Amino acid sequence: MGRDNGLRSARVAGIGYYLPERVLTNFDFEKMVDTSDEWIVTRTGIRERHIAKTEEASSDLAINAARVAMTDAGVDAKDIDLIVVGTATGDYPFPSTATIVQTSIGAKNAAAFDVAAACSGFIYSVTIAQSMIVAGKARRALVVGVETLSRITDYTDRTTCILFGDGAGAVILEPCEAGEGILATSMRSDGTYTDLLYQPVGGSRTPLTEERIRNREQFIKMKGDGLFKYAVRAMVDAAETVLREAGVKAADIDFVIPHQANLRIIEGVRNRLRLPPEKVIVNIDRVGNTSSASIPIAFCEAKDKGIIKRGDRVLMVAFGGGLTWGAVLLEY
Ligand code: ACO
Repeated sequence: MGRDNGLRSARVAGIGYYLPERVLTNFDFEKMVDTSDEWIVTRTGIRERHIAKTEEASSDLAINAARVAMTDAGVDAKDIDLIVVGTATGDYPFPSTATIVQTSIGAKNAAAFDVAAACSGFIYSVTIAQSMIVAGKARRALVVGVETLSRITDYTDRTTCILFGDGAGAVILEPCEAGEGILATSMRSDGTYTDLLYQPVGGSRTPLTEERIRNREQFIKMKGDGLFKYAVRAMVDAAETVLREAGVKAADIDFVIPHQANLRIIEGVRNRLRLPPEKVIVNIDRVGNTSSASIPIAFCEAKDKGIIKRGDRVLMVAFGGGLTWGAVLLEY
């Protein structure tokens, strides 16, 4: 991937997010597993996360975020011709969550599909949508990052359950002149490390059985220390790739929005890029790790608070299961 073809690019015309109402705090976890608020805050930076209601599926969260983004962009559903949803927790194995969003918002002229890139889902989805706009295959795209990770989290496993939350973030992308909007993108992967973070059961390799459910194999499994080492290196590499391709210095970025996996990973990336804390958007304390939703939620929150403004140079960078990682540099 990389720089566009010099003819045009895509810009963020609107942005929205949605967090379910219910909040699970570290103190709630103290009553559920052998942990403490102090351990969780020190190791992860997380204090609370939002959890979807039983009747709320990923598409419900996505639709709420999409509607806010459409209003922000002043865009009608019928003018959207592409919907890309990054998610690891879609409503069904198939059809895609994107098609459910498509019909619910009334985007009757849109193609719709999901992207499976775990925590990098939003970065991958934005990159694909921008590429289709640049290629003239789409004019107005809705890109969503959404997760209901609570559905695949084992709330008896203290090493993982304290990390994850639910939520959705969305952007509307429209064509713009080259040199505006999205300036550069990068997507990478390394499948050698599948077992560092995955959901072992429920797919075609190991379908659900009663025994596997009894063994709790349908939930997220994670080797946190292995991921940690890889994450900082990969995110810095992705960030440097897009900066180089756009000819922009790290010091000239207004804001970095890293995937909110762990405050210590975010700090590692910030230090390696030599950025002051005020340039790095962090909301992990209030939302936990929402995988592909984390970047657009953090982006929209920062915009709503007046922190990120039109014209700012924003670097979004993610890392996740697969392994996958990538970055998008844009002028908002
Ligand atoms: N409460 C109390 N103790 C705990 C908890 C908990 N919730 N979880 C683990 N521990 C214990 C462990 O059992 C271990 O005990 P032991 O020494 O007796 O064996 C001890 O704490 C230390 O465990 P570590 O796993 O070494 O703790 P670490 O400092 O590595 O932190 C963590 C774990 C937070 C998961 C960290 O490795 C991490 O964040 N890794 C990055 C992975 C990540 O962010 N994953 C999220 C998804 S990936 C992504 O989004 C890209």
